[in-house]
Amino acid sequence: MYPLKRNRRLRVNDSIRHLVRETIITPSDFLVPLFVVEGKGVKEEIASMPNYYRMSLDNLEKEVKELWNMGLCAVLLFVKVPDNLKDNKGTEALNPNGLMQLAIKTVKNACPEMLVMTDVALDPYSSLGHDGIVQDGQILNDETSEILAEMSVSHADAGADFVAPSDMMDGRILTIREALEDEGHINTGIMSYSAKYASAFYGPFRDALDSAPVNMKDVPKNKKTYQMDSANRFEAISETQADIDEGADIVMVKPGLAYLDIVREIRNEVDVPVAVYQVSGEYAMLKAAAEKGWLDHDAVMMEQLLAIKRAGANIIASYFAKDAVRLMG
Ligand code: PBG
Repeated sequence: MYPLKRNRRLRVNDSIRHLVRETIITPSDFLVPLFVVEGKGVKEEIASMPNYYRMSLDNLEKEVKELWNMGLCAVLLFVKVPDNLKDNKGTEALNPNGLMQLAIKTVKNACPEMLVMTDVALDPYSSLGHDGIVQDGQILNDETSEILAEMSVSHADAGADFVAPSDMMDGRILTIREALEDEGHINTGIMSYSAKYASAFYGPFRDALDSAPVNMKDVPKNKKTYQMDSANRFEAISETQADIDEGADIVMVKPGLAYLDIVREIRNEVDVPVAVYQVSGEYAMLKAAAEKGWLDHDAVMMEQLLAIKRAGANIIASYFAKDAVRLMG
């Protein structure tokens, strides 16, 4: 008279639990997002992202050395551009001595082996806060893709290992791939934000970069004409497949936690590495709850990261990367 199967045998103590653990997080799983600003000696905390900072190039240099010493070997760069350099076409994005280009060089000088990925989209450079050029209330697709391709070449010229288009224009992966090939950047990879949803979880990020769509007549108030509808699943597969066909080396699902069904589906469907972006709002939610004493920060953080990996992520872009690696000891 005993239970047919005692599943609890495999949970009796730490040793057996470790032995049968199916999912393990390691420092090399992470892609660390970094926010860069102009100036010197700047390290300013982002209000809606406690313990996360915008930093100037000198502090960026220190940061990447620290990351490297912790075993974190890939960064994803974003820049905060001063308002006076913004316009509808994101002209500043192509400046060979622009902040992004300098940031890439700074990281590569400080830490040559650090993998450098760069965000490619117009929003940090756009006076209207959109990922593409705005005309008559529309976000122009093909014209934007051409600029994104030039931007990608500029990042590759500065030394980026991968460009990461986050804009969701149609066909931009092919346009970017062709431009990179034409300029001889055959080894510059593309990590495509392929299934990127129009999510309210990006709020704190837009605070960090001051990049939210502006409130102005004839400017769409949201990004729903290019980012995906949260309700859709099949669309994620077709978006992702299209990007792979156009030349994406790595694909991405974004946000993370609320979209793990999509992560699993994409992982089952495609044969390239799948990245997941645990976005700013996910970070902010846990920080806020932990600050209030309502959730155990470290335990919930690790549980979330494990869930993302268990769902099929091969790469996790996360603001928790340092916290997690420290905890892992
Ligand atoms: C820019 C971009 C965004 C994020 C990454 N790249 C914001 C957006 O699309 O509005 C969001 C990242 C985050 O919330 O952590 N296109």
